[in-house]
Amino acid sequence: MAGPEAGTEAAGDAALDAALDAAGDAALEAAVEAALGKLDLDAKARLLAGQDMWSLPALPEIGLESLVMSDGPIGVRGVRWTSGDPSVALPSPTALAATWDPELARRAGVLLAQEARRKGVHVLLAPTVNLHRSPLGGRHFEAYSEDPYLTGRIGTGYVRGVQSGGVGTTVKHFVANDAETDRFTVNNLVSERALRELYLAPFEAIVENAHPWGIMTAYNTVNGTSMTEHRYLVNEVLRGEWGFDGYNVSDWMAARDTVAAVEGGLDVAMPGPRTIFGQALAQAVRDGKAEESTVDGAVRNVLRLAARVGILEGARPAVTELPDTVGGEALAREIARRAFVLVRNEDRALPLRPDTTVALIGAAARDARVLGGGSAVVFPARVVSPLDGLTAALPDGSLSYAVGADPNTELAVADKGFELRALCRDEAGTLIGTGAAPTGEINWMGSDLPDGVTHDTLHTVELTGTFTPRESGPHVFGIKGTGAFTLTVDGTTYFDDVQRPADDGDPFESFFGTPQPHAETELTAGQPVEISLTFVVTLPAGIPFKAVVFALTYQEPQHDPDELIAEAVAAARAADTAVVVVATTERVESEGFDRKNLRLPGRQDDLVHAVAAANPNTVVVVNSGSPVEMPWRDEVAAVLLSWFPGQEGGAALADVLTGAHEPGGRLPTTWGSLADAPVTQVVPADGELPYTEGVFIGYRAWEKANRTPVHPFGHGLGYTDWAYESVAVEGSTLTVRIRNTGERTGREVVQVYLAPADTAPAPDRPVRWLAGFAGAEAGPGETVDVTVDLPRRAFEIWDEADRRWSFVKGSYEIQVGRSIADRRITATINV
Ligand code: BGC
Repeated sequence: MAGPEAGTEAAGDAALDAALDAAGDAALEAAVEAALGKLDLDAKARLLAGQDMWSLPALPEIGLESLVMSDGPIGVRGVRWTSGDPSVALPSPTALAATWDPELARRAGVLLAQEARRKGVHVLLAPTVNLHRSPLGGRHFEAYSEDPYLTGRIGTGYVRGVQSGGVGTTVKHFVANDAETDRFTVNNLVSERALRELYLAPFEAIVENAHPWGIMTAYNTVNGTSMTEHRYLVNEVLRGEWGFDGYNVSDWMAARDTVAAVEGGLDVAMPGPRTIFGQALAQAVRDGKAEESTVDGAVRNVLRLAARVGILEGARPAVTELPDTVGGEALAREIARRAFVLVRNEDRALPLRPDTTVALIGAAARDARVLGGGSAVVFPARVVSPLDGLTAALPDGSLSYAVGADPNTELAVADKGFELRALCRDEAGTLIGTGAAPTGEINWMGSDLPDGVTHDTLHTVELTGTFTPRESGPHVFGIKGTGAFTLTVDGTTYFDDVQRPADDGDPFESFFGTPQPHAETELTAGQPVEISLTFVVTLPAGIPFKAVVFALTYQEPQHDPDELIAEAVAAARAADTAVVVVATTERVESEGFDRKNLRLPGRQDDLVHAVAAANPNTVVVVNSGSPVEMPWRDEVAAVLLSWFPGQEGGAALADVLTGAHEPGGRLPTTWGSLADAPVTQVVPADGELPYTEGVFIGYRAWEKANRTPVHPFGHGLGYTDWAYESVAVEGSTLTVRIRNTGERTGREVVQVYLAPADTAPAPDRPVRWLAGFAGAEAGPGETVDVTVDLPRRAFEIWDEADRRWSFVKGSYEIQVGRSIADRRITATINV
């Protein structure tokens, strides 16, 4: 039973080795050269520009199929942005990192490659390996960690997994895209040392250990140069120093200058059809402003990618033998429970006693929030909510449910209770086609229109059908999108006007913008009413492709918040245990904006205070992708962080609450209050965001400031206990003996921190940093030896004067334990 986990990201994997071999495959390079030689300048320039939202043009003359890309990172959405084309939704990247298990990340990658193939996708727009610099970062949930080493290890496992399935990755967003405010224009001022030791480090580790076939350059500017034009970081560092041989795709609409971009190492400008490459690039060459040989280099990178993913005729794909099929639901559930972090468990409140009665409370317990917003959204075929999961797992009659507090203050896309379809008409009002509308959201991009419909003929889209309420009361209907709309509910027209965009400058406003309420009407539970929303098609401004984007939105009857809390308190009193699920919303954690604070939205904090006062056995499940403040933490028996747990989250939650499995996660990022957090700034001043903290982010900053966070980096409890018995050092290899001193089998994550032991180490080094980790399983009473190799890089700092890595000799204390704050044993190493 006892055993360290053999499967690191370097575990034997035939398909992967084949993929890596292929990197140097002379035959592949020859095929690329042969194809390149047959292309004229115009064809070459065309290949470097998106033909639509997600793909590059096919070039039949060289046997090249169209290369298709798709987001990423928790699933593969495919080229259609609709729940009509479902995808497996895995837990958020923060959750994957909380497993501290690169092998599990690799298995996630294998599943994603399988999903990509099913959807005809060749390249996944993932993983996101920016760092958790400030807890306010809006896309924090989409990145792994505040620590570059942990990020690099998880990202390496992920990329190796995806590519072992013959699908490419684009490690993103290169580099320093760590917040969202003014993301298209912000100039992040980052010292060379912070870049090397923190922000570039995960990219470097992944290039070295996983050989990614692609990279995505970020929207932002770094030290005065836009990342899509950053010749130094792309051509010199990424390609030159690290030997990256994949393709470099711009973030969507990030590329602005034809010559600067091609010279700065950008290979592909996305999306299309209007881009800075294509014709504009051919013209720049003709005008003598760009070299054709530079264009050739970019084309070579794209053709090499095409060869690897198997769409260039005559070239052997990198992977010829696919990995075994993976069960998506089972894997999503396994990752979720392995990611849940139990940060507090007083008197072993968890797992629940077998005969306990449970009051389940919280809006997100019923309408689960399983993923973060923005381009990371995928549409799963099913979602297991905590209510579904616990209903299935607990004996009949032992579970009650109350909403308690609903943080969703705005309308959501029409979904449950709606039966809709989309009628497409031409200018004369003649029906020209009908589209599926599994929800109230229409996102038809490029040529993805219903059969028989073209942009030239399409004039209006009417979403029409019925809505059957699940409760009686005043229901609100509204619209997301910009343009002319007519909204009719149950025979009454409530809106017949133009809805204008909010003026926040993000071109994806029509996709992610705020829904506006327009109709409020009393409806009776179970009685269907007719609904119609007509949109006079106007294409969203400021984006280079055609898209029909709008949504019918909806909100259930709102209840008096005090009454909701009182109901929950009554339910909590009547049960042995109260399980309260608190959550952030899509308005809090998404793309295109940052967070303003770390508070739970709505009355959720009041709810937990009240329930905890009514029932000492209160367990709080925090359903958020990134840190939130928990002012009630000391009042409750247990706190379990579930992240955005993916489509099977509720089933996984039942697994760990009932004790069928232990929660396996450890914090990949420090949790503290905003007031105490040392690095928070995400709002640029005069277009600039100086990273004044240098190399001190995350725990490095908390320790420097001598502040104690609420929950330290690496923290997480299981259902057993561990003793750290010994550590032996041989060269740079540590052997750590741990013993399971509890009563059930468990998995431990052994964490190794390195602390300069000399009194006067290099002046501005952190107190300690993560240098290695490994997982191991053991049964009750068993010991297990875990080996951890310390990488050379753990002892190096970036020397800004000499612009090179410098190995810092001296004496270090190796500190081994359960978190950065719970260090159990030490050893000294002199290097
Ligand atoms: C995001 C990328 C994403 C791309 C395509 C951008 O707005 O920053 O992460 O891959 O859109 O959806």
